[in-house]
Amino acid sequence: MSDTRSHPDGPRPDDDDGRQVWLTPPESMQHSLFIAAGVLATVIASYVGLVAIPNWQVNRLEPVMLDNGETYPAERSELAQKGKDVYIDLGCVYCHSQQVRQNDFGGDLSRGWGMRSSVPLDYTREETPVLGTMRTGPDLRNIGGRQPSRQWHYLHLYNPRITSPGSTMPPFRFLFDTVPIEGRTNVPVGRVDMPEEHSVPGHYVVATDRARALVEYLLSLDHDQTLPENANRGTDPEQVDR
Ligand code: HEC
Repeated sequence: MSDTRSHPDGPRPDDDDGRQVWLTPPESMQHSLFIAAGVLATVIASYVGLVAIPNWQVNRLEPVMLDNGETYPAERSELAQKGKDVYIDLGCVYCHSQQVRQNDFGGDLSRGWGMRSSVPLDYTREETPVLGTMRTGPDLRNIGGRQPSRQWHYLHLYNPRITSPGSTMPPFRFLFDTVPIEGRTNVPVGRVDMPEEHSVPGHYVVATDRARALVEYLLSLDHDQTLPENANRGTDPEQVDR
């Protein structure tokens, strides 16, 4: 072929003066290559710093044995695991976070949301931690330690204003059934102890399987244990743990 000029790798046969020259990209193209390389380097550096290294650090964490012989975090029961799906399904995460922050990052400890701040170890058994970002309601990472009563949770889900007057949390009444008392010889599983003024005349209010699983999950969110990470920092919120 006579026209080898368009071949970027080869020498031109000659230029105007008859000398052989190598084709180089035009200057503007050199600039854009430089910019593209810079963008690529920034993306790679961010990925390594923000995704790859943290992933490596957190993924090698294993549950630990506490002084009392228990493993932490404990494995969740099957029911509690189902409850987590219900939690995600019902969008609780849109109003509740699950990360107790250090004192430098807000007043979580002084609000009583935990005896200590959350650490990566707390999430080692979780494939999808529901960390959340919104805090229309309190942080729930330690709700099982803070409020261990199953009946309290049933009542609160049925009508948050029974347990928390003035609450703006929506009621999740559809998680409960009413069962006629008449003709029953036994008390149904999951019966809710309704206060007199909220009881449904002639009926038991009964938690459905979803409500029972959800509450089991909430009770499993218990974070009061002192861990090696913050063992020497005390558990008194006033002492500021890190
Ligand atoms: C629209 C926002 C909103 C949604 C959605 C929501 N909550 Fe709440 N939640 C609140 C508010 C506000 C409070 C504080 C008042 C109260 O105790 O009811 C609260 C309180 C709580 C508490 C008591 C916390 C404490 O420290 O006493 C629990 C437990 C709870 N919510 C669980 C849930 C669960 C489980 C779901 C999903 C089924 C859910 N919430 C969905 C707003 C919400």
